[in-house]
Amino acid sequence: MKTDGLYMDGTYGRGGHADAIASRLGPQGRLWATDRDPDAVADGHERFRHDPRCAVSQAGFEELPARVQGAGLSGRVDGLLLDLGVSSPQLDDAERGFSIRRDGPLDMRMDPGQGESAYAWLCRAPAGEIRRVLHTYGEERHARRVTNAIIAARDAGELPRRTGEFAALVREAMPAEQGPRHPATRVFQAIRIHINGELAALDRLLAGVCGVLAPGGRLVVISFHSLEDRRVKRFMRDHSRIGDLPPGAPEPPPEKRPSLRVVGKPIRADDNEVAANPRARSAVMRVAERLS
Ligand SMILES: C[S@@+](CC[C@H](N)C(=O)[O-])C[C@H]1O[C@@H](n2cnc3c(N)ncnc32)[C@H](O)[C@@H]1O
Repeated sequence: MKTDGLYMDGTYGRGGHADAIASRLGPQGRLWATDRDPDAVADGHERFRHDPRCAVSQAGFEELPARVQGAGLSGRVDGLLLDLGVSSPQLDDAERGFSIRRDGPLDMRMDPGQGESAYAWLCRAPAGEIRRVLHTYGEERHARRVTNAIIAARDAGELPRRTGEFAALVREAMPAEQGPRHPATRVFQAIRIHINGELAALDRLLAGVCGVLAPGGRLVVISFHSLEDRRVKRFMRDHSRIGDLPPGAPEPPPEKRPSLRVVGKPIRADDNEVAANPRARSAVMRVAERLS
């Protein structure tokens, strides 16, 4: 890290990473952090109340390229971190509606002030859309059975409003349980990804990120499931390869030159880290560096 660099944390959460970045900055260094979640942003304001080098704002990280451009800082950012998915406080607070095991309203919005709750979406979505979401974002083999159960409950005026009842409905729709995970895990994941537009947000950020980073600046992405990781992997691979050129061709034109260099191999949490933080089990971190 450059002590006088400009760094961005697009997923502030509860500031673990932001704090680590801030602790390495000198007096001229700057950190911009964002999160969609108002509780996360409130935590950030409190944490950095007395640190003028650090600013935390409520925004989707997909807005960062436009915000950076608006601030005249395109091509000046030395590092951008994304630690994707939901935070532990979001999962642990039953009232946010993300938790299978803690009963709360079926909401699942990272920003409760925007868009529709999971319950509102399930009340109005056509069966085909629900099935597609469960199949695509949850890779749920039993998407059809679960969708039929949701539609039957809805038609009977009994669609659950709470996570506990909804998890029970999904469990009943599934064939006999396999494995230690709750049978509704993939269904909850799928609905959460859909309600928060998580993959579209990642795609938007990736489309603009090369214009954000300074030469030598790094993009660091921590993903928690294969749908995210595949996108990040493909993006880094495609931008770090020279486009197709005829054999023996001279120096490629600028549009064919790679804009990124992949740094190292993907990193997974080791046994010690997983023991300390079981949610790191499925995390994969990828790093790429902007070429000049
Ligand atoms: C895994 S947590 C981050 C934890 C954080 N690195 C820490 O050290 O505490 C993910 C956070 O990203 C936020 N988030 C997810 N998608 C987002 C998006 N498109 N824009 C902004 N924040 C997002 C969530 O609200 C959540 O707080």
